[in-house]
Amino acid sequence: MTVPSVHPCPTRTDASLENIIDLRGVVKTFKNAAGEFVVLKGIDLQIRPGEFVAVVGKSGSGKSTLLNMITGIDHPTSGQVIVGGTDIYHNMSESQRSRWRGCNLGIVFQFFQLMPMLSLLENVMLPMDFANMYDFDERTQRALELLSLVGLEGLAEKLPLAVSTGQQQSAAIARALATDPPLIVADEPTGNLDSHSADAIIALFHQLVDSGKTIMMVTHDPSVTARASRTVIIFDGQLIDETIVRALPLLRHRHMLEFSRLAERRTYPPGQTIISRQQQVDSLYMIARGEVEVVLQGRLRDDTVIARLGAGDFFGEIELLHGGRSIANVRASVDGPVELLVLPRDDFLRVIAESPITAEALGTIVQRRLEEHRAVDRRGVRLVGKKRSGGPR
Ligand SMILES: Nc1ncnc2c1ncn2[C@@H]1O[C@H](COP(=O)(O)OP(=O)(O)O)[C@@H](O)[C@H]1O
Ligand SMILES: [Mg+2]
Repeated sequence: MTVPSVHPCPTRTDASLENIIDLRGVVKTFKNAAGEFVVLKGIDLQIRPGEFVAVVGKSGSGKSTLLNMITGIDHPTSGQVIVGGTDIYHNMSESQRSRWRGCNLGIVFQFFQLMPMLSLLENVMLPMDFANMYDFDERTQRALELLSLVGLEGLAEKLPLAVSTGQQQSAAIARALATDPPLIVADEPTGNLDSHSADAIIALFHQLVDSGKTIMMVTHDPSVTARASRTVIIFDGQLIDETIVRALPLLRHRHMLEFSRLAERRTYPPGQTIISRQQQVDSLYMIARGEVEVVLQGRLRDDTVIARLGAGDFFGEIELLHGGRSIANVRASVDGPVELLVLPRDDFLRVIAESPITAEALGTIVQRRLEEHRAVDRRGVRLVGKKRSGGPR
């Protein structure tokens, strides 16, 4: 897919960086006649090269504003936006930022935003002209190749309005790829397409991720979030903790945010006991990183590992919902430390009472886990490799 460049981008980002996007305490305030309005309330977000990040949130939650911080289209009121290792607001002038954007970033909008008087081919060539990348003769060839990559061979000379909306968005993606940028940012790119065209566009994005691009995409499409490497949810200008999104995906965003604020982060060293059998359980434990082992004492044998739980799984819910003491030992895996989000019992129960869907999903998990425990008790045998028997997803 990559056409070799003759004029390499002068400010091309370094692909070996740990984070291609690093937002630190980003705040964005708009002022109007009614006063000040804080749209982003201190966003911290790190994205590694090659990730496909879906950004989800209700209308008005701040998704587009967040993307505008990264693309340099708008600027934060405070905080740092570090893209490709450079603080794009503190270390660049407006004109440097605009040149930087031209060769490091591909942007795809909901309403395509193609130039209506230019052919698809000319639209795709525009960013190369702007960034002065590739030899003049090479630009046409490259634009044709990109149009064919997105399935528009034969339509290069058409004006945008002479093709379908799905084809216009395909052309917009070809345009976003014109300077071969490492990072693609897309704001609801399928929001105006029929489902058939949307599927084609999504397939294209997956192809781009496979070829090594980093993608950050605002979307409402569950088929995209299901296949994205990460889902970031924004609610009322704040990011929800991703462990909570993975562990309790059916919770309302409002409740997820509440849990993000209330949960305490704890780290346990390898092998350390987190909950002992018969101990009173007073929290829900969600795994952010690492693994835990759930250990039952069967009648015939000690230390029967009945489950291994990993990131996004949770435990403690059986005791919280059914009352009482732990029926098993839970310990950090011997292979490495485990990082947990620990949510107090009362907060958990109060929110579950307001969220019947989550309560029902939890009930099913509890039932299944209790059956597993009983099976172990009866047989006294070791169940191995019971990985990821945890959260609803
Ligand atoms: N330029 C602006 N001036 C004033 N308010 C704005 C501006 N841009 C966005 N907002 C407000 O910020 C909030 C978040 O907007 P936006 O980021 O577009 O949300 P989303 O993309 O999640 O729907 C909205 O309430 C919107 O009205
Ligand atoms: Mg928006």
